[in-house]
Amino acid sequence: APSDPDLVERARAAKAKLGDKVFVLGHHYQRDEVIEFADVTGDSFKLARDAAARPDAEYIVFCGVHFMAESADILTGDDQQVILPDLAAGCSMADMATAEQVAECWDVLTEAGVAEQVVPVSYMNSSADIKAFTGKHGGTICTSSNAKRALDWAFEQGEKVLFLPDQHLGRNTAVRDMGLSLDDCVVYNPHKPNGGLTAEELRAAKMILWRGHCSVHGRFSLESVNDVRARIPGVNVLVHPECKHEVVAAADYVGSTEYIIKALEAAPRGSKWAIGTELNLVRRLANRFAAEDKEIVFLDKTVCFCSTMNRIDLPHLVWALESLAAGKVVNRIQVDRETESFAKLALERMLALP
Ligand code: 13P
Ligand code: SF4
Repeated sequence: APSDPDLVERARAAKAKLGDKVFVLGHHYQRDEVIEFADVTGDSFKLARDAAARPDAEYIVFCGVHFMAESADILTGDDQQVILPDLAAGCSMADMATAEQVAECWDVLTEAGVAEQVVPVSYMNSSADIKAFTGKHGGTICTSSNAKRALDWAFEQGEKVLFLPDQHLGRNTAVRDMGLSLDDCVVYNPHKPNGGLTAEELRAAKMILWRGHCSVHGRFSLESVNDVRARIPGVNVLVHPECKHEVVAAADYVGSTEYIIKALEAAPRGSKWAIGTELNLVRRLANRFAAEDKEIVFLDKTVCFCSTMNRIDLPHLVWALESLAAGKVVNRIQVDRETESFAKLALERMLALP
């Protein structure tokens, strides 16, 4: 549905009043009505890098989810305030690894005598606490666009990787890009004693995958890939690496949201694509490329929006911008100093990856 013209006008007016004081970042999964007001759009890597691009902006309004706003706070100056227009915009995957669970896991690895060989690699989609744990134990953060480089780096530092919290990105990168086998990977289940693993299994493993997943991407299935191939002859299947291994193995192309956009920009006229990622982005791309005669469909019609990404809508954005314009800071995301210093170490290792 088209946006309420009154709200559009209010967002415009508040943004104009704030001028250079505000910098609005928008993740590719955000609604069109929100993307319209973003100064920069990107995948999680680009947004982490660009958060610090405007050191003079007093307010950074982050249209994305909580862990992204935390990362922006960690990577920007103390005098810059990061605002998340709706505090309920979390991420179910990030919630699957808590600080207590990860500390317990480290104890299990220590007991098994493997902790010294383990380098933690944490996906950007994790809380600041998990990032701090990662930094403290000599590890790095990665995103879906640099996971291979992060794993290359980690295997230069140690013999094993503890990959948090997305088992699928960890497994897909290890098997697809690093030449490891499925047998080199074990899954640590935080809800079972000792993660459900024996000391022997931990000693034999190269990749210890945390049992987390994305509730949106986890729903694409091998069946959806087979169905779309039967329905649309010649279709190219392009999926995000948060999808299950069997889906990624059956796809033609795999990559981050930024990669998906670039692949479609470079695609020839008349080509057909089925995309397995969040629906706001797929719809926007389908509309954008229809004019160039590129047919773009959603990989599985039964999968829906990321509900937490969708919490940031125009009314919340207007409320945040109007509050700031009136001198009132709302929904500030602020990571405490101790957590910040270790989390920053891990994030900076990522930003320094070759
Ligand atoms: P990217 O933007 O890095 O591809 O990540 C997707 C995602 O799930 C963000 O929550
Ligand atoms: Fe989290 Fe998945 Fe939503 Fe990304 S798409 S914010 S990983 S739940």
